[in-house]
Amino acid sequence: MEIVAKIVDGVYYVGVNDRDTHLFENIWPLTKGVSYNSYLIVDEKTALIDTVKVNKMKEYIEKITQILDGKPLDYLIINHMEPDHSGAISSIVHAFPNVKIVGNKKTFEFIKAMYHFEGNFHEVKDGDEINLGSRTLKFYMTPMVHWPETMMTYDIKDKILFSGDAFGGFGSLDGGIFDDEVDISYFENEIRRYYSNIVGKFGPMVQKALQKLSGLDIKIVCSTHGPVWRTNPMHIVSAYDRWSKYEYEEGVVIAYGTMYGNTEKMADYIARVLAEEGVKNIRVMNTSTTHESFIINEIWRFKGVILGTCTYNNWIFPPMENLIINLSHKGLPNRVFGVFGTYGWSGGGVKGIVEYIQKNKWQLVGEPVEVQFSPKEEDFERLRKLAIDMAKAVKEG
Ligand SMILES: [Fe+2]
Ligand SMILES: [Fe+2]
Repeated sequence: MEIVAKIVDGVYYVGVNDRDTHLFENIWPLTKGVSYNSYLIVDEKTALIDTVKVNKMKEYIEKITQILDGKPLDYLIINHMEPDHSGAISSIVHAFPNVKIVGNKKTFEFIKAMYHFEGNFHEVKDGDEINLGSRTLKFYMTPMVHWPETMMTYDIKDKILFSGDAFGGFGSLDGGIFDDEVDISYFENEIRRYYSNIVGKFGPMVQKALQKLSGLDIKIVCSTHGPVWRTNPMHIVSAYDRWSKYEYEEGVVIAYGTMYGNTEKMADYIARVLAEEGVKNIRVMNTSTTHESFIINEIWRFKGVILGTCTYNNWIFPPMENLIINLSHKGLPNRVFGVFGTYGWSGGGVKGIVEYIQKNKWQLVGEPVEVQFSPKEEDFERLRKLAIDMAKAVKEG
């Protein structure tokens, strides 16, 4: 027997957990795993909404056949084509050869290019509906959240929004599937880390999608990752709204790259002064030992960013440069930043950061502090000044 959960009468959760994969998209560490959520509707007609990654196929097909109990599968609705959801398409078609695949023009272009087959395609456009008997599903095109074919499916009867990756997050569903069955604080960081790193670049498109959905009465949010929001769906909708508007909280992230600890010492000193100045949320993060996705997650949350680097090959220390490159790809505006660092015989690290980050249109706070090898007393004074300026900047507005 496979574990399935009823969302409402006739709508089932048939997703799977992945605690095996180390890196999501082969980049992002999955320290708490991830779930690939899929949903099965059983009415006069039956419909499966999104599938799962290929590594969980046997369990997944068994869940579906268990619920269908001999009924045919009429529709497979593809809200999103990324392989963590489309991986099972060919297995589903193999198991249910008469299934109609529902998607938009782009979906079918991607299926053909990715899996090299043409199926029994049923194309939908924005606002189109499919009747399943007692239920009608309505489709909303939400392009670039976070791929061009992304769309959402709304069940008019029970007001369920099947939202694709939108409103999703990292973290496997360990027993609890619904928001009221789990401690949401356990998931919060992983949801924002997912948002900031996977979807964050497309903030304006998330805003566009939210506007399109704003007239809908949404009672349950069924995303393709993370908990099903049946008790407080607006919790996740408003979080996505805030993050896609690049809103921030009071706090400072100090990320540093250090070879022998001198730049780290400067980071710790700045952090201490920030605390003395009343800043409570301070994150000091080592770019050599912390994956950039965790640092980007904190930077998405807080207004202040202070970046410190030692100089390496007359330039930024590579792990710090990697963070900066990734950050600039996300296009996060609206932050204030400070810079510090060390050099041995010629500078380059601090200058490199200032040049790079100004492209993000962030506001430079205070004077960059660059010292030779190891900070002296007067250097700590300059760091104190930088910390005080940053404390003021994050407390304004
Ligand atoms: Fe995706
Ligand atoms: Fe996904």
